Amino acid sequence: MMQTRIDLQNWKCEGPTAIITDRTVAKLYGNALARRLNCPLFSVAGGEECKTRASKEMLENALFTAGFGSDATIIALGGGVVSDIAGFVAATFCRGVKLILIPTTLLAMCDAAIGGKNGVNIGERKNAIGTYYKPAQLLIDPHVLSTLPDDEYLSGTAEILKHGLIWDQNLWEWMLSSFDAWQSRDLGFLEKCIDWNIQIKSDVISKNKRDLLNFGHTVGHGLEMLQGMKHGMAIAKGMWTETLWSKGYDANVKNGLGRFGFDLEIDADFEKLWSVMQWDKKRTKEKLYAVSIADKTLKEMTFDELFANLSTTP
Ligand SMILES: NC(=O)c1ccc[n+]([C@@H]2O[C@H](COP(=O)([O-])OP(=O)(O)OC[C@H]3O[C@@H](n4cnc5c(N)ncnc54)[C@H](O)[C@@H]3O)[C@@H](O)[C@H]2O)c1
Repeated sequence: MMQTRIDLQNWKCEGPTAIITDRTVAKLYGNALARRLNCPLFSVAGGEECKTRASKEMLENALFTAGFGSDATIIALGGGVVSDIAGFVAATFCRGVKLILIPTTLLAMCDAAIGGKNGVNIGERKNAIGTYYKPAQLLIDPHVLSTLPDDEYLSGTAEILKHGLIWDQNLWEWMLSSFDAWQSRDLGFLEKCIDWNIQIKSDVISKNKRDLLNFGHTVGHGLEMLQGMKHGMAIAKGMWTETLWSKGYDANVKNGLGRFGFDLEIDADFEKLWSVMQWDKKRTKEKLYAVSIADKTLKEMTFDELFANLSTTP
């Protein structure tokens, strides 16, 4: 996926355009962009709770009411929640209209906006419906990360560390050795980090290894839906738990995730967590699968194997 670096303060585009964003990003960047482009802006409330069919329907109705048709361009301005909903809307509105992604969280720049996946949740079923739909453009302005809250910045870091663990040891080591630049959100660090992660995710997909991207997500999605925690925080717990499960135990994983401040403990009713995990899309023929980091493949996961190891969780 080719990305273009932009300065959001000055960027413009032509044609019938609508911005889809959330309320926080609207106030910070969206309203100003809508004024400059002289186009309507439609906001969802924000957060995982609004990644629903109801939000998609609300946006579709708003687009039709505003007179948009098949020549529309939809700009998705926001984090992964916005790119997932707006991408799904763009994929099906008038059977597909032009989509421009402008991710504004670290997680969306390094992960959610890459690879063309979109979707919404249905109850506890994470990303239950959606499509694969490529954006016409991926535009990135790393300056917007200066307003991102610390916990959201940390959440995005989980997917970056995942890319290091599943694909490129050099990225993992570089992240650990760049801790100060990470903490201060140094612009040079961020630019290199975003470029590197876009490259890795694109490589993984082009080599048909998409499954690996699910490392930490079988458990992580369960926690995210059961306990409402942020995506990256849940994935960090998932990565550590699945590392223990795969018997690829490596103190580096624990120490590395811990260095960035992730809490790796799972405080949940295991039976309830297991039942929410059953909605995982990798489930087939009554079996649940997760990525074993020890041998980098999908393997069947059983309740006993997973939770037997949890007693040794730090
Ligand atoms: N489609 C994919 O391939 C893919 C991959 C990974 C994750 N995801 C999805 O992404 C979602 C998580 O995305 P996220 O972590 O970006 O969360 P998010 O979209 O909820 O954004 C997090 C919060 O940050 C705020 N925000 C966004 N940009 C900001 C900025 N520049 N300054 C200040 N505040 C800002 C938002 O308003 C929101 O409150 C999950 O639903 C997950 O399933 C999708």
